[in-house]
Amino acid sequence: EAFDVVVVGSCMTDLVSQAPRLPKAGETIHGHKFFIGFGGKGANQCIQAARMGAKTAMVCKVGKDFFGENYIQNFKDNGVSTEFVGQTVDSATGAASIIVNDAGENAIVIVAGANLLLGGEDLRRALPALSRAKVMVCQLEVSPDTSLQALRLSHENNVKTIFNPAPAIPDLDPDFYRASDVFCCNESEAELLTGVAVASIEDAGRAGQELLRRGCNSVIITLGSRGCVVLSAQEPSSPSHHVPTKPVTTVDTTGAGDSFIGALAFYMAHFPTMSLEEMARRANQVAGVSVQTIGTQASYPSKKDLPTDLF
Ligand code: RIB
Ligand code: NA
Repeated sequence: EAFDVVVVGSCMTDLVSQAPRLPKAGETIHGHKFFIGFGGKGANQCIQAARMGAKTAMVCKVGKDFFGENYIQNFKDNGVSTEFVGQTVDSATGAASIIVNDAGENAIVIVAGANLLLGGEDLRRALPALSRAKVMVCQLEVSPDTSLQALRLSHENNVKTIFNPAPAIPDLDPDFYRASDVFCCNESEAELLTGVAVASIEDAGRAGQELLRRGCNSVIITLGSRGCVVLSAQEPSSPSHHVPTKPVTTVDTTGAGDSFIGALAFYMAHFPTMSLEEMARRANQVAGVSVQTIGTQASYPSKKDLPTDLF
């Protein structure tokens, strides 16, 4: 079976509290709403790609527990293949404690748990699907070694790769760059990786040039409400292209970057000749829908909810 998009990555149960502001150390504050949702960067990206209409599979590990069982059902409900979803008794399903303030900003602590047990053996089992996928996506909420192996494997098999170095780690193995067709991160991740302070669109362009220099084929740095910048090794002399977004009313930005990447993966699989800037422009619009309602996956639009000119 050939998939459009295979995601090698994380699943987390999101435990979300909405409060007027983020608490300080040692402080207790009243929040006004609590809910549990499906999250984890890997799964978020996979679900967004699936809701756009991509044929998807997830390669991940959850615990043999209530959250793990629920998560598998969530994949099935969204039409994601669970053939390569492993369950372990040795660790619990990953969990993320999230606080969202009235400005729609968040603070997150993740306990990756079972995600860290995803390894080489799991990739070998998924190899038939991995080697025939159109696009493979991975992040850094599983062991970095596993993500790097997945990137190398895909690269060797001429599968297009999207690497999202999130959450960022300072000393990334140089092969992460070389095996990335699209290296996609946000401004703070770009800053941590390059040492370039990213406050403006021009700064993002400079950080992007540095990431390109490290060997990625193209780079996207997302900038929240300011859209993103796109750079390509095919036109190294031309400056970065800024892709703006339409202004929207922001309620919750949690997982907006994942919505962008999931949509991007869908476009790369379905419209392989479309320019990366056009894909980014459309993915910005999809992510722009997600920030207007509370929750992570709960806020991701499906094809039927989106304007037809995005397809
Ligand atoms: O990127 C958003 C995600 O980060 C959340 O769903 C949470 O699970 C954390 O992994
Ligand atoms: Na949202």
